[in-house]
Amino acid sequence: MSSAAPPVPATSRPGHALSGTIGVPGDKSISHRSLMLGGLAVGETVVHGLLEGEDVLRTAAAMRQMGAEIVREEKTGIWRARGRGVGALVEPADVLDLGNAGTGARLLMGLIAAHPIVAVFTGDASLRRRPMGRVTAPLEKFGARFVARGRAEGKVLLPLTVIGASDPVPVEYVVPVPSAQVKSAVLLAGLNAPGTTIVHEKEGTRDHSELMLRHFGAEIDVTRTDQGTRIALKGQPELTGREVRVPGDPSSAAFALVAGLVVPGSDVRVRNVGLNPRRTGLYQTLREMGATLDIGNASTQAGEPVGDIGVRFTQLSGVEVPAARAPSMIDEYPILAVAASCAKGRTVMRGLNELRVKESDRLSAIARGLAACGVKATIEGDDLIVEGNGGPPPGMEAGTPAIKTHLDHRIAMSFLVMGLAAARPVTVDDIGAIATSFPGFVELVRTLGGEIKVGA
Ligand code: S3P
Repeated sequence: MSSAAPPVPATSRPGHALSGTIGVPGDKSISHRSLMLGGLAVGETVVHGLLEGEDVLRTAAAMRQMGAEIVREEKTGIWRARGRGVGALVEPADVLDLGNAGTGARLLMGLIAAHPIVAVFTGDASLRRRPMGRVTAPLEKFGARFVARGRAEGKVLLPLTVIGASDPVPVEYVVPVPSAQVKSAVLLAGLNAPGTTIVHEKEGTRDHSELMLRHFGAEIDVTRTDQGTRIALKGQPELTGREVRVPGDPSSAAFALVAGLVVPGSDVRVRNVGLNPRRTGLYQTLREMGATLDIGNASTQAGEPVGDIGVRFTQLSGVEVPAARAPSMIDEYPILAVAASCAKGRTVMRGLNELRVKESDRLSAIARGLAACGVKATIEGDDLIVEGNGGPPPGMEAGTPAIKTHLDHRIAMSFLVMGLAAARPVTVDDIGAIATSFPGFVELVRTLGGEIKVGA
């Protein structure tokens, strides 16, 4: 997989308008959760449109290691899962290697924390740098214990061993950072604790866990409070297999839609994209920048709103993006930075501290990549300020070293989109990580008419 494979550089070139209608792979967050809950629930879960990216395949493998039956039907591409019920996870006989997948690692730690089993987690170089203390701290409250690398520097890093609680107790926890992964890890641990587990979050992060837990038959109560949202989950429910239709990932659609907006002459439509309001901050921002998003075929699938989105090339204008919007577009800042580079005037993106602990330190990866493309960008505290070019950004001067992607799929895809819109081509050092979330990205861009050359 990408972590060990030799780097594969790629170069995108301007000069081609993009046009056409495409579908993007299934939502990564929903795909992980469908295999976790499907692999736990009694009876059959049928998943349509699962993201077959490396991250999700790692979750499938880990769930199989813990006794779930998970198979892919070759003819239809449908995935089927069968579990043994809440509380019946089997101790994995080997290390759980989650590759690049932060969501897979953190949510599975939650699932295991309230099971009387021991599991060892590891991942690729990117995942082994990412903070795990944010999930181990609340999971210890259930009675789980963790032995992890990084203690000397006061960190909790993979590889890590979780010793799940034999007699878990329910927990009430205020999530200290806006993180759906932390919230979800606590809820998944709460599944096998008797009584009610309660999570409070100040800022509303993506709620796919809550929606899917309910879909599988858990009793979950979500109320708004003065401090934000209170989520109460009744422990030890009988989860039963369900049908899940995974919408196209809005975070993947974002690359095609921003490309359609910034490459002159383009007209792009993406079918069946998730429109969960906790994920649509980018769309709101693009509208404020002057884009028209043509939304059609709206419907609901497994509790999740979906629809088609169309855009045409538009001269965007710089805006200020408030910190409060960050949770609803946390994965979209790299591609927004590309849109901002093409916009007229300055774009200020506030409150991006969480970007420092993604697949890479995205805040610095974005700023360095923009500089390599001749775009003026500065980091002030937790804010990113991009001076738009009011047209195509310069792109890379001949001889500029390839943009470093640091095993980060979204950095790789964002700068490839930059090269489609800039005055000169853009080269990234490694597109291996794109397969974690968006297999077929390069081919889809080519289908739309874009030029990407893979290799040195
Ligand atoms: C995710 C939550 C977000 C997001 C990640 C997927 C999830 O992470 O960046 O890509 O599926 O819960 P945080 O919870 O760390 O913000």
